[in-house]
Amino acid sequence: MNLKDLYIDFFKSKGHKQIPSAPVVPENDPSVLFNTAGMQPLIPYLMGESHPYGKRLCDYQKCIRTNDLDTIGDAYHHTFFEMLGNWSLGDYFKKEAITWSFEFLTSVLKIPKEKLAITVFAGNELIGEDKESIEIWKSLGISDKRICKTVDDNFWIAGEFGPCGPDTEIFYFRSDDEIPEEFDPEDERWVEIWNNVFMQYNKTKDGKIEDLPKKNVDTGMGVERTTAILEGVNDNYISSLWIDVIKKIEEISNLPYSQNEKSMRIIADHIRTAVFISADNSLIKPSNTDQGYILRRLIRRSIRHAKKLGIDINSDFMKEIALVIISKYEKYYKELKQNKEIVLSVLEQEKIKFNRTLEKGLREFDKNTKNLVDNKIDASLAFRLYDTYGFPIELTEEIARERNIEVDIDGFYQKFKEHQEKSRTASAGKFKGGLAGNGEMETKYHTATHLLNAALKKVVSEDVHQKGSNITSERMRFDFSCDHKLTDIEKQKTEELVNKWINDKIDIIKKEMPKEEAIKSGAECMFIEKYPDMVTVYEIGDFSKELCGGPHVKNTKELGHFKIIKEESSSAGVRRIKAVLEEK
Ligand code: SER
Repeated sequence: MNLKDLYIDFFKSKGHKQIPSAPVVPENDPSVLFNTAGMQPLIPYLMGESHPYGKRLCDYQKCIRTNDLDTIGDAYHHTFFEMLGNWSLGDYFKKEAITWSFEFLTSVLKIPKEKLAITVFAGNELIGEDKESIEIWKSLGISDKRICKTVDDNFWIAGEFGPCGPDTEIFYFRSDDEIPEEFDPEDERWVEIWNNVFMQYNKTKDGKIEDLPKKNVDTGMGVERTTAILEGVNDNYISSLWIDVIKKIEEISNLPYSQNEKSMRIIADHIRTAVFISADNSLIKPSNTDQGYILRRLIRRSIRHAKKLGIDINSDFMKEIALVIISKYEKYYKELKQNKEIVLSVLEQEKIKFNRTLEKGLREFDKNTKNLVDNKIDASLAFRLYDTYGFPIELTEEIARERNIEVDIDGFYQKFKEHQEKSRTASAGKFKGGLAGNGEMETKYHTATHLLNAALKKVVSEDVHQKGSNITSERMRFDFSCDHKLTDIEKQKTEELVNKWINDKIDIIKKEMPKEEAIKSGAECMFIEKYPDMVTVYEIGDFSKELCGGPHVKNTKELGHFKIIKEESSSAGVRRIKAVLEEK
């Protein structure tokens, strides 16, 4: 059995319910492009909402981190990874969490306890030393010398604010050397494999630490790293998770992995992530903004590395690699099977698009870098390569680095930003990742989205269905199926109806029920297959009933005044409304 199955079985035996992996694109969180940790989709529940599956949960979650694409190419960084996790939502706490971690590692995975070491929170001026965890580890037979206290590395938070708490990290000695008696977390032979966070605090936006309504446990273990460790390999890409993909790339390129590690790892990693992004039910397509831009960069960078290996980039190489990846993961993620054709077509179309300009772009690159002043590519050239030839900046940087040329990155970003602002696209800040912004305004906009959906059905047509939505603290955007541009009268009536419902001061009713029952009762939802068997339904009056993860306000009166700012086309058969809530 593999690690994922062993983990889930173990935690089920301890009374946990398995929850499905949330999509890689967060559903209610415009502040991050992708889920970056198992806990992210669970934030509302860590903050105190009750989860339809109960208080003990476990899962494997698809995560994506693309902050630093440059690290990809080494033996252990990946843009996509799976995180195993178990959670207590106000149920068990340190004793059970630590004891079960220990039991899973030593009894199920059969890791000798001598190969394990621990870090715990040393305490600071606000929160004391985590004596309790130290005592629990000692009672399990971990020696004093193998327990190290730290301040900075043992307090976990997903960004600047939100649920957080002290943690205890478990390290494994990955070396054939004799194990030193005293544990030193700086010694690279010790690698972290699992983190147990005791989430009992909330850090507010103004930096205050307050108690959460309940004490929670949030744990996370990386599948790729732990699999490599268990298989005794020092390179994740030769573990059983990756080896078939690498073999496929060797076969296609007719080159050995041992002499082409970097490019082969980049191709394997980037295509795997591109497969998971494009298979997500949010149906992201390559574009120049947000998640679509990440997808584009990943595909294009993998094509460039394929070219470096001498692979015919007009061949089916991406499809062949993608099929190996899909076959390895479809048992766990059924969207890979369901959306297989979509995935292959996304890769193919983007490949065709990029191949059209890649050659020309490389020629432009060569022509313009022959007689460089200061051996530096200036901002205009970097931006032209991006804008005209579709070279994401790190591609230009990478090619430049290979030829010992520098790039004016700051200048490029300046131009990029001006361009972004002009086309009113995402702000650069969004690329940074961080914690969810389910603030007060976002919550109001969630509820306003339900009202707008219902109003459009009444005013425009029963056939209006939500096709997408995006919320920031400043505005809402709502895409819906509709075959015509809304008339002024339709817009006005829609606005009036939403405001009437706000003035009617209607309570929002939250109900938990089996998915089947929710569908039978006529509740709306965008992607039914995305939801677990038990779902949350939000009802407003007798006109709105939707499956939704929330959060929502308690009563419509909290929303203020609803105003449509713009109505425009989104894509064929889909219209887009931008709207704001104003104070009354
Ligand atoms: N949230 C913690 C982490 O990502 C534990 O799951 O490490």
